[in-house]
Amino acid sequence: MFPMYRARRIRQDGIREMLNNSLVEVKKLMLPIFVMPGSNRIEEIVSMPGVYRYTVDRVLNFVEKAVNYGIKSIIFFGISEVKDSIGSWASNREGEVQKAIRMVKKEFPKMVVAADTCLCEYTDHGHCGIVRDGEILNDETLKVLNNIAISYAESGADIIAPSGMMDGMVLSIRNALDTKGFYNTIIMSYSVKYSSCFYGPFRDAAESAPKFGNRKTHQMSPFFGYNEAVKEALIDVEEYADILMVKPGLAYLDVLKVVKDSVLLPVAVYNVSGEYSMVKAASINGWLDEMSTVSEIFYAFLRAGADIIISYHSLDYAKWLAQNGK
Ligand code: PBG
Repeated sequence: MFPMYRARRIRQDGIREMLNNSLVEVKKLMLPIFVMPGSNRIEEIVSMPGVYRYTVDRVLNFVEKAVNYGIKSIIFFGISEVKDSIGSWASNREGEVQKAIRMVKKEFPKMVVAADTCLCEYTDHGHCGIVRDGEILNDETLKVLNNIAISYAESGADIIAPSGMMDGMVLSIRNALDTKGFYNTIIMSYSVKYSSCFYGPFRDAAESAPKFGNRKTHQMSPFFGYNEAVKEALIDVEEYADILMVKPGLAYLDVLKVVKDSVLLPVAVYNVSGEYSMVKAASINGWLDEMSTVSEIFYAFLRAGADIIISYHSLDYAKWLAQNGK
């Protein structure tokens, strides 16, 4: 008790540094990359300053920059011009994502390449599945997801990341991959994914906002308790997922901790678009110091149990560490 014990003693210079755990290392980070149709173009995403969409021919250059700063893994998101009711372009071998994966794996074989596996960027209605009479059909959608996953694996993706929250998607994709001999391809499942307002800027970025309705029939309610989160995580464990994910991150750090403590698998956290844009907007206005803010947030993810952090800040963070000799 005070005054014999003084909590401030160990916060003095020198001691404090000694007791600090290390900053999050760059190898823990996964960098999202948006690929769009066309050639020789880069577009900044208005609601995500500092994040760009790249045509396939511009992707390599960006990835090279990331490699030079020590980024070890990326996750691709496709933006599609070709849209139809069943998202057929998503599994086309000549699709933007498939091409980008092949190029990156050829040039940088050690880069760990993941591919977001969903229909919403490829359907004309913007939903994550096949729709009939206003209903997103779960089981019909699985077959389409299997084909997308196989096309990514054939292109050389290391990680398939199904994000559509269809029931049974992990088991279905695992079977499909194994049947084609892709038994080493990893499934990182968006297991605990909330129907969150924090995805707003992403839907701008990927042009994937639903044209009618919302994602509440498949994404989890932010207002349920922990049981639903743990149940979703355990279901994916039983379906042979290799890595689980909690998304979004900041408003769900407690969920991340509970999930991590409930499973024996690695858990990724997705520091989503809205979280990025909040920090970015405040930084641009001079209201927050961006580097300190991101470092603090990343460390919070690690403390809550994240094994992998997926973040739009990844490359900036890697640059800051390099500039500060860390
Ligand atoms: C679905 C997908 C979304 C995000 C990642 N994968 C959008 C959604 O569920 O509506 C959101 C990522 C972010 O906000 O950064 N393909």
